[in-house]
Amino acid sequence: MKLKVLTFSILSASLFANHAFATNHQVTIHANLQDRGAVINKDIYGQFAEHLGRGIYGGLWVGHDSDIPNTKGFRNDVVQALRDIKVPLLRWPGGCFADQYHWRDGIGPQEDRPITINSNWGGVEETNAVGTHEFFDLADLIGADTYINGNLATGSAQEMADWIEYMTSDKNSALANERRANGRREPWEIKYFGVGNEAWGCGGNMGPEQYVDLYQQYMSVIKTPPGKEILFVGSGGTTEDTQWTDVLSSRIHNDMGGISFHFYTLPNDDWDNKGSATEFDDTMWFKTLERTYRMKNYLQNNVDILDRNDPSGQLGFYVDEWGTWYDTEEGREPGFLYQQNTLRDAVVAAVNLNLFHEYAKRVHMTNIAQMVNVLQAMILTDGAKMVKTPTYHIFDMYKVFQDATAIPFTLDTTEYSMDGKDLPAVSATLAKGTDGRIYMALVNLDPENDADIDLNLNGEINTILAGRILTAQAITAKNTFDDQHALEPQPFQDWADNFVLPAKSVVVLTLK
Ligand code: AHR
Repeated sequence: MKLKVLTFSILSASLFANHAFATNHQVTIHANLQDRGAVINKDIYGQFAEHLGRGIYGGLWVGHDSDIPNTKGFRNDVVQALRDIKVPLLRWPGGCFADQYHWRDGIGPQEDRPITINSNWGGVEETNAVGTHEFFDLADLIGADTYINGNLATGSAQEMADWIEYMTSDKNSALANERRANGRREPWEIKYFGVGNEAWGCGGNMGPEQYVDLYQQYMSVIKTPPGKEILFVGSGGTTEDTQWTDVLSSRIHNDMGGISFHFYTLPNDDWDNKGSATEFDDTMWFKTLERTYRMKNYLQNNVDILDRNDPSGQLGFYVDEWGTWYDTEEGREPGFLYQQNTLRDAVVAAVNLNLFHEYAKRVHMTNIAQMVNVLQAMILTDGAKMVKTPTYHIFDMYKVFQDATAIPFTLDTTEYSMDGKDLPAVSATLAKGTDGRIYMALVNLDPENDADIDLNLNGEINTILAGRILTAQAITAKNTFDDQHALEPQPFQDWADNFVLPAKSVVVLTLK
């Protein structure tokens, strides 16, 4: 059955006619809306906030005495913006920072906390003003569940076990009482706990066999309070590597909720020359999307291994760091990883989210890197000013997919090609939301050519109720502190059974 069109104006009909060029991509989507796939775990929309640059200090935390309006030291404007996109999960304190972090530095009266050196990120002074209690305040303000990353490289099993007891025990133990003396009577909830980070690199420079030995040693002393569940995260691999997933999933049988995986999109695929965040042409646009689309193969290869080693499907595959990573802008602190964010980042985000939905059976959690002022951020700040990035708007448009149930579909699309490489011109996702409505997202990766979309959705009478589109004239379009609303979602009304998806756009449709 074809879609029933609620409103199909003369204007949209003529737009359709105008767009029906021979150069348009041709896309057909078939689905039976009564079919059901995996649940799209809301934790796929998790975010990462590391002690790095102005990610925490300035971006989130301004302190109780700041002129910038704040609650418990966290700036109100940023907290409200994050609440609006329903961030489900917050990962802290790193990253590489986590493996040199000693939790005792961040508890007790602020004035008594030691100043340490953030040797991973610019060698700057770390005041430890944001520690465990402040992190839980932030998660609470945002309305997010918590993901804490422990220190495996420079900590000890005892230190990690003590931190977990400090946070979660309801007993009359010395550690639980210390927490109470520091102002928190009730235990906190930890949803995920990472046992180290990037153990192959900044987290210890080791191989997977050595890591598994250490993991098991640590887990033998870590105790989760009865009745509580913490999903422990094994630190896994990156990019094309699958050995870490293989070794961890074949050797660790209990005490692990899933295995982490990191993949960053570098336009040039070169750490010494990553590419500019804001100055790029169609070739760099293509290269960026070609790199990001490698995520599909990485997901497939790791999921194949998990399906073999863990056929019951217990283990999650957690992409707990993903996003774009560009060259540092001239004049900015190299260790701070501050970068602007354009329409290209919005398309990167949407393509990755569509892939995570596709693999939702295994991909139960991901964290974009990072939340504020670092890498592919949702939000940028400059003193009291704040701007929402194009990536923020994708997370806003896509929040309807949190905990939705995927609907299987087939998508036939022409290709978007350059220099002998091909990408599908259109990426899509389709799901039934928790509110009973059907949501479809479509991304046109091609910056030049529109796509003719032919929807064949059978099984339920449907009406498109609403649509939102994020696009712009220029591929480099962005929001700045002086022009904060340059790129924002607009109503999208040019839909029907057949409609045109404009070049370089992301559209989310609501069906009923
Ligand atoms: O997100 C920035 C850094 O990238 C993280 O600290 C580390 O885990 C990764 O290499």
